[in-house]
Amino acid sequence: MIKVCAVSLNDWDWGLLQGKPFINRLYFGLLKPKMKILGSDIAGRIEAVGPNVTRFKPGDAVYGDLSGAWGGFAEYVSAPETSLVLKPADMTFEDAAAIPQAAMLAVQGLRDKGRIQPGQKLLINGAGGGVGTFGVQIAKTYGVEVTGVDRPEKLDMLRSVGFDRVIDYTRVDFTRMGQRFDLILDVKTNRSVFDYTRALNPNGIYVTVGGALGRVFLALVLGPVISMISNKKIRIVGLKPNKNLPYLNELFEAGKVKPVIDGLYALSAVPEALRYFGTAQHRGKIVITIGAPPQFRP
Ligand SMILES: NC(=O)c1ccc[n+]([C@@H]2O[C@H](COP(=O)([O-])OP(=O)(O)OC[C@H]3O[C@@H](n4cnc5c(N)ncnc54)[C@H](OP(=O)(O)O)[C@@H]3O)[C@@H](O)[C@H]2O)c1
Repeated sequence: MIKVCAVSLNDWDWGLLQGKPFINRLYFGLLKPKMKILGSDIAGRIEAVGPNVTRFKPGDAVYGDLSGAWGGFAEYVSAPETSLVLKPADMTFEDAAAIPQAAMLAVQGLRDKGRIQPGQKLLINGAGGGVGTFGVQIAKTYGVEVTGVDRPEKLDMLRSVGFDRVIDYTRVDFTRMGQRFDLILDVKTNRSVFDYTRALNPNGIYVTVGGALGRVFLALVLGPVISMISNKKIRIVGLKPNKNLPYLNELFEAGKVKPVIDGLYALSAVPEALRYFGTAQHRGKIVITIGAPPQFRP
């Protein structure tokens, strides 16, 4: 059992709250949600452990992604020890809660599926949210040139977290500007798989983590065909929760990754925070703090 100190919002919480996409209801409850309390990315202190727990003891500061079990928007939550890692001492609970899902999607998209290499040109589509702001920092550890695509209001923030170039999607379609990339990491999947293929260099890789369901499905079906008839690859990330948290701890402790946090909310303000998340105006991650008045860190 964990006393929750902070929990961050994810696209998954927003989708489950709305019951969208509809297909998810087959698993998460057709007419009403099976789980009553959302919230997956938590950070807190172990309050009590079951008899078979070997890795943690009461008092340990931990964090992790509880997706599948959920229940993080609460003062206390129970979780299997496999969902948690120890939080480094110099990482705040707010920073820790911001990391799990978004950073895992970024690492698994760039390293496992994207085979990121030094010197490449990378583009992140939907750069201003959780995945994009972790993605650029992780990519920079590989010495990669990174372009970010998002709405105009977010472009200054993108430059400040390390993007070398930024593109305003309301004015420019990056798949039609004649420039090509070695690797594309996509959070939105709002173009056709053929558009993405056109924007790749020879031997380039396109990786989607999610977005428009129909287009992700087409990438799933057509990806293997495109990979067979061309030298370009189309890949999809299936999130492996918490897999690379020790690696993220290393990057954080080395000062190479710092979560971008849009703002802090109290537990009682979860509905307001979710509504704000739904407008998609946030920059980086939205975090709920529990047990202490929310104060924005410098
Ligand atoms: N593969 C898996 O197993 C798995 C598991 C969990 C989640 N996911 C997926 O992971 C993604 C979550 O990423 P995230 O946390 O980074 O999301 P996020 O915080 O919502 O960020 C998405 C960003 O994309 C921007 N955007 C919106 N429309 C755009 C467009 N047309 N072109 C370019 N950018 C656009 C948004 O800004 P504006 O709206 O302000 O323009 C926002 O800055 C979702 O797609 C989710 O479905 C996948």
